[in-house]
Amino acid sequence: MKGVLLHGGFGTRLRPLTHTGPKQLVRVAGKPVSQWALEDLRDAGIKEVSIILGELAPDRVVEYYGNGDWLNMRLTYIYQGYPYGLAHAVYVAKDFVGDEPFVVYLGDNIILEGIRDFVKRFEESDSDAMILLAKVPSPERFGVAKFDEKGRLIGLVEKPKVPPSPYALVGVYFFRPPYIFRSIEELKPSWRGELEITNAIQNLINWGLKVEYDIITGWWKDTGTPEDILEANRMLLDAKIQANIYGSVEEGAIIEGRVFIGKGAVVKAESVIRGPVYIGRDSVIGPKAFIGPYTSIGNGCRLTNLEIENSVLSDEVVLENITTRICDSIIGSYTTIGKHEGMPSGLRLIVGERTRIYL
Ligand code: DAU
Repeated sequence: MKGVLLHGGFGTRLRPLTHTGPKQLVRVAGKPVSQWALEDLRDAGIKEVSIILGELAPDRVVEYYGNGDWLNMRLTYIYQGYPYGLAHAVYVAKDFVGDEPFVVYLGDNIILEGIRDFVKRFEESDSDAMILLAKVPSPERFGVAKFDEKGRLIGLVEKPKVPPSPYALVGVYFFRPPYIFRSIEELKPSWRGELEITNAIQNLINWGLKVEYDIITGWWKDTGTPEDILEANRMLLDAKIQANIYGSVEEGAIIEGRVFIGKGAVVKAESVIRGPVYIGRDSVIGPKAFIGPYTSIGNGCRLTNLEIENSVLSDEVVLENITTRICDSIIGSYTTIGKHEGMPSGLRLIVGERTRIYL
């Protein structure tokens, strides 16, 4: 079975984090969101994956993942460009999948329990497609499944005003060619101007083909908003991060709970790290830093004389001499926040488009 990972789209709701790169590269618990998805595919036995690239800094995705050797995967890339819709993104992978069954994984989805069992079920079946559903409190934000009175799947509606059920479509789809591609060829753009994968699957149902579903009961997230990123970070820190200290901890620093400290990172004196916390390689924490639960810090960061909790920092972030505790924050790479020694007090801000600062 092959894999197709969707890495395009605009990531509008995650601006300004997505001004410089695709949303799927935003880090949670030490890894880009799409790396969690790729590793999930790999751990389910799918090592040959094509990554579908969008217009937003596609070279950064290629630079980060390369040929996939380091993940023990075989990765190739296909350029989709403008996001004409999920079905369009799947169609551009037609030659890559050939006549093999394949899984489409949205690069912004995280499934804590993984997809191994679902892959096995689909491989053993003769279905033309299989979808995954999850019961959610606000189904109108997703594609939603419709069932008949016997519980049979009869339809899928994309972001309906009145949801026909509480079951949302999770961003992982299983297909067995050729009908899915024929169906996509017949699609017309939806009300939001996209070729919808939900409509493509609806065609398969209408044609009487075999479309199965399974239900995810564990935690699943579509990381479309900053709040989603923070929640995903908490869930992954809880579920996947082991206590491990590869860096060094100076005397006088206190480490409590599950804390991961990457190679070359240093925790300096008078600092307290209270897990679950992830600290990337070569970051310097302290002196006088309190890193509270559910914080992920990227590589090469410098945090001095401050308190922070429930936050996500990308690489090379500098935070210094901050008197108010930082919480529930997401800070992009190469950002500096702090008090400039020797300057009169007052806020000095050089801030990009669509930034949010709450004081
Ligand atoms: O997350 C699950 C939901 O994903 C499903 O319930 C919906 O039925 C499905 O349409 C989709 O909804 P979203 O509105 O969340 O899709 P979004 O535009 O965020 O795109 C999902 C992923 O696919 C994201 O990683 C970006 C990528 N993408 C998107 C489009 C439209 C592409 O690679 N190419 C595209 O053309």
